[in-house]
Amino acid sequence: MCKRKFVVALTGASGMAYAVRLLEVMSTCECEIHLVISDTAYEVLETETGISIPRQEFTPCALGLSASCESKFFPSGRIHFHRCDDFTAAIASGSYRTDGMVVCPCTMGTLGAIASGLSMNLIHRAAEVHLKEHRKLILVPRETPYSLIQLENMTRIARAGGIILPASPAFYQGVSDLNGIVNFIVSRICDQLGIENSLSPRWRGPEEPEIETPDYEKFIEMAG
Ligand SMILES: Cc1cc2nc3c(=O)[nH]c(=O)nc-3n(C[C@H](O)[C@H](O)[C@H](O)COP(=O)(O)O)c2cc1C
Repeated sequence: MCKRKFVVALTGASGMAYAVRLLEVMSTCECEIHLVISDTAYEVLETETGISIPRQEFTPCALGLSASCESKFFPSGRIHFHRCDDFTAAIASGSYRTDGMVVCPCTMGTLGAIASGLSMNLIHRAAEVHLKEHRKLILVPRETPYSLIQLENMTRIARAGGIILPASPAFYQGVSDLNGIVNFIVSRICDQLGIENSLSPRWRGPEEPEIETPDYEKFIEMAG
C-alpha cells in the first residue's frame, strides 16, 4: 500500500510545542514526512522547548523525541529532511505527489510570502505548489492582534483554497493542562490531514458528554 506523504514546515512563530507534538503524532501513523525548518524556527524552537537541532546534520532524535525514536517513530525512510534553501527538493515540484502540507507554527512573514506567491524559500515554494495543484495546505498562524494586512493575507490564501487553522484552543472540551491545549490544536490539524486521532475529547452534545469537567483551580495554579 502506498504511504501517504505530508510536508511539515516549521517557521519562526511562537508555538513550537504544537510542532513537536504534531511530528510525534504523525510519526506514529503510516505516512512519510517531508520536514522543512526555516532559519528563525531553529531559534524559536530552542527558546521555547530547549531543543537544539544541528542545521547540517538533522536526525529525528534531535527533535527531542525519545532516544529510540529512530526505530520506534521514524524507521529509516519515513522522514525526509530538506534544507530551507534547497529548491532542488522533490517537494518544490508539482510533479512530486503529496497528500498535503502543514505550516505549524506559521509566521506572519511566511503567511505574507505565500499570499503574495513569493517563493523565496522551500517552504513558500512547497506551499505555492500545494495551492496550484489544489492539494491541502494548512497554515497555523500565531499572532495577536492581527493587522488588516495579515487578515487580508489570510483571506487571500483561504480564497486560493488554503486552510487557515489558527492556534486558538477551545476550553469546552475539558482541558486541564497545557498538554490538553496542545493536543486540541494538533487534533484539529490531524483531522484536516485525515489522520485518525483521539488526542482530544470530541463534543457530542450536552446529552452525551465525552468530556469531564476540568479542575480549573489546578489549571490556573499551573498557569501561575
Ligand atoms: C522568540 C521569537 C518569537 C516569535 N514569534 C512570532 C510569532 O508568534 N508570530 C510571528 O509572525 N512572528 C514571530 N517571530 C518573528 C519571526 O520569527 C520573524 O518574522 C521571521 O523573519 C520569520 O521568518 P520565517 O517565516 O521564515 O520563519 C518571532 C521571533 C522570535 C525570535
